[in-house]
Amino acid sequence: MTRHFLDLSDAGGDALAAMLGDAQERKTARLGWPKGRPDADAPLAGHVLAMIFEKNSTRTRVSFDMAMRQLGGSAIVLEAGTTQLGRGETVADTARVLSRMVDAIMIRTDDHAKIEELAAHATVPVVNGLTDASHPCQIVADLLTIVEHGKALPGLEVAWLGDGNNVLSSTVEAAGLLGFNVRIGVPEGYDADPAYVDVARSRGSKITVHRDAREAVAGADVVVTDTWISMGQSGAEARIAAMTPYQVNEQLMAAARPDALFLHCLPAHRGEEVTDAVIDGRQSVVWDEAENRIHAQKSVLRWVLGQL
Ligand code: CP
Ligand code: NVA
Repeated sequence: MTRHFLDLSDAGGDALAAMLGDAQERKTARLGWPKGRPDADAPLAGHVLAMIFEKNSTRTRVSFDMAMRQLGGSAIVLEAGTTQLGRGETVADTARVLSRMVDAIMIRTDDHAKIEELAAHATVPVVNGLTDASHPCQIVADLLTIVEHGKALPGLEVAWLGDGNNVLSSTVEAAGLLGFNVRIGVPEGYDADPAYVDVARSRGSKITVHRDAREAVAGADVVVTDTWISMGQSGAEARIAAMTPYQVNEQLMAAARPDALFLHCLPAHRGEEVTDAVIDGRQSVVWDEAENRIHAQKSVLRWVLGQL
């Protein structure tokens, strides 16, 4: 059976834990090396990843390309606007053709149904590089960052502030799979996707909703935020007005544990969801988090290709 990675549940808790272990080992083994040098065992030598982008990206694009290089393979970028997909060739036919030409497909798109359709017709693994619904690869990198900064995942208290978006959905999904809790501080009308929340709760995770930002952050081990206006969203003025009380600033960080980490998937909108003092401050691990996109995705790629 072809392994796809459309959401974290496709892998499950045990595989996720294996990915985190593999990522830590591989990262340590190549410390100080030139970034493009393949790992000693080059486990994906000869393999090619096609990357389809229907939305902008800096980190996802560069980190998947570098991940493939470090695994001994290579990547091809397809900007949707310059492909036949952008002119109306069907997702199904695109899946059939790419499956004959490459070993795996990563796609960043809007509608989650599109990635499901791609996976349904592909005979090679499909990896979610962000949809409007979820961003699972980001969360593997986030978990790696949390663990490497010395925090155990079971029982961890993660506070999420701002918008109930795609990154939150994958955070909540991870909570259910790995046994941590999420305290969601978002305004009414911008709530988390109940589909992900219900599943995480059914797996035993505590997912709580707080309209008061300080209450959400109180005693948290990790504080996370993201843009208030995700790609493709409108209504910027109303969103900013509603989410301003949830800005992660020094006063809010002070309500978390003194050793709490600050995470942000980036790009950041400094002065909106987070202040300079926090993102550049002692608790921020956002640059490790960004680098970890490479290390985490190497393990995701190894998992979809049956090596983990
Ligand atoms: N965090 C993230 O996915 O960044 P990009 O949009 O730059 O890929
Ligand atoms: N929630 C953001 C994440 C960007 C990496 C978006 O979808 O635009």
